[in-house]
Amino acid sequence: MTHRHYEIQLADGYDGCAARYRHDDEIESRTPAHRRIGSKLRRICDSFARPIRILEIGCGTGRYFHWLRNAQLLVGVDLSAEMLRHAQHPLRAEKVTAAEIRLLQGNVYEMDFERESFEFIYSLGVFGYGAEMTAELGGRLHDWLAPGGRLYFDAIERPSTTGLTFAGRCRHHARYHVLPWLPGFIKSRLARKARGIPVIRHTRGSIAAAISSAGFDEIAIASVPCRSPLWNGVHVECTARKPVSARGREIDRPDFARSQPAAPPDQEQKTSRERGEIGGP
Ligand SMILES: C[S@@+](CC[C@H](N)C(=O)[O-])C[C@H]1O[C@@H](n2cnc3c(N)ncnc32)[C@H](O)[C@@H]1O
Repeated sequence: MTHRHYEIQLADGYDGCAARYRHDDEIESRTPAHRRIGSKLRRICDSFARPIRILEIGCGTGRYFHWLRNAQLLVGVDLSAEMLRHAQHPLRAEKVTAAEIRLLQGNVYEMDFERESFEFIYSLGVFGYGAEMTAELGGRLHDWLAPGGRLYFDAIERPSTTGLTFAGRCRHHARYHVLPWLPGFIKSRLARKARGIPVIRHTRGSIAAAISSAGFDEIAIASVPCRSPLWNGVHVECTARKPVSARGREIDRPDFARSQPAAPPDQEQKTSRERGEIGGP
């Protein structure tokens, strides 16, 4: 899949629903799923016990900013200018403690950052809908993390066939094993029917392969059922660490992870915040 292909549709789609997404921030923030994810973000931040630089990929309206701690710099990247406009006034803005926030409009597959720019990179609700966690992207994130840096993301999970009826197994087989081999014009026609954006379902195995080949260690992967008034499904969640001695490991890393030409972000919007008092929900 070429990630540029869906860039405009994704950006337009999220631009169009940004106001609705902002409205849903309030609903979602009261769910156990949101609190579980937020607590995990908080724990990872707290584990550093010093000022850190954080990157959120696909930050949307800034729904999770208020959970972060120890952030001397928070960079939020997103395709959608409208989502970023809302992120300038993130959810629970009064509880956001990041000393500086930079919002960058761009496609994460095309962006580039200096090596070792961040101690923590996370992404929530991005992989699965027109975006895929690949070994190549994993390699880039590995480059952007400082040694000992942490990665946390989720992705829509491909359902297992356990417990399916025969007919269910046939449909599953058609969707996941036959569909990928169909001629491009049939696939694009089907994709257009599904509003143009392909749903890419990850497996725990595909994520483990991508993240370990990128050079991460301490990889933990779990299936997490999500039930909320807004979305029901299963996510694969992954946390991983860039080894402290990552320089030594790079010798074994594939070439794609070392040199990625990337366009600079189209637009940069900056806001600075005073460091505030600790206090999230
Ligand atoms: C479902 S929203 C999630 C927003 C936020 N992470 C949250 O949990 O509330 C997905 C966001 O990812 C952004 N996105 C999708 N693909 C992207 C890409 N390739 N590069 C940058 N942002 C992307 C979309 O524009 C959208 O704002």
